[in-house]
Amino acid sequence: SENDYQEMYDLALDLAKQAGQMIKDAFDKEKLVDTKLSAADLVTETDQAVEKLVKILIKAKFPNHKFIGEESTSETGEKCEFTNDPTWIIDPVDGTTNFVHSIPEVSFSLGVTVNKIPVIGVVYIPMKEELFTARQGQGAFLNGRKLSANGTKDLSKSVVIMEGGSSRDPGIVDAKIKNIHSMVTNSHGVRAYGSAALNLSYIAAGRGDAYVEYGIHVWDFIAGALIAREAGAVVTDPTGSELDYMHRRVLCACTAELGKQISSLLVHLDMGWD
Ligand code: IPD
Repeated sequence: SENDYQEMYDLALDLAKQAGQMIKDAFDKEKLVDTKLSAADLVTETDQAVEKLVKILIKAKFPNHKFIGEESTSETGEKCEFTNDPTWIIDPVDGTTNFVHSIPEVSFSLGVTVNKIPVIGVVYIPMKEELFTARQGQGAFLNGRKLSANGTKDLSKSVVIMEGGSSRDPGIVDAKIKNIHSMVTNSHGVRAYGSAALNLSYIAAGRGDAYVEYGIHVWDFIAGALIAREAGAVVTDPTGSELDYMHRRVLCACTAELGKQISSLLVHLDMGWD
């Protein structure tokens, strides 16, 4: 019911606040860094501590809800079980590489799905005190101000956000460089902020026109995808087909025309499913 959704949203905001405080407290301190799937896939104590706390608080309030978290999932190495149940999908620290290197583009990302459809999206960038929020059908907001994505239809007038990502497989890196080459050649410029959740939120806020990435995970982009859509952007699979949250890739464009143009120029990498 609407009441339950309000309670879920209130908890989501509270979790963002608490996670944000933990990130802020740890930001200037020395970090204990470990690696996961590749030498450039990083995790810190803060990622783990934030996820642990958030998981406990969700369980306490909604014991029947499901949970998918970056660190819990990487620990077990299992595939995600994505069901119709209300599911909290979180990335405790999106932009861990930035966090480790004291670059402030670090976000806490939280999405809630019901029947596999995102109904709540919260992305908080504590170092900038920017809180991006969205609820299905109710618009997207930055610190309470309503957002609307740009109307850019032409790649030649666009800024495109792209990332190197964490895979060090030479074939994957080569294909990504090829894509960056196409985008640099045909646009106003390419940017990489180092957090998928932030990248999508930036498109929602009109800070850039499109974002594409292969190799991200559901927790990196599910909240940002709702925020971008609620701001009027189009979020699809990079080929242009319907977005699959478990397929590790996404294309977000401020208009459908721009999305089509970008899609046609890309080498489409398949990096599997969560
Ligand atoms: C990473 C960020 C980054 C993207 C990587 C992700 P993490 O998430 O979203 O922008 O390029 O592919 O792994 O590991 O910092 O949560």
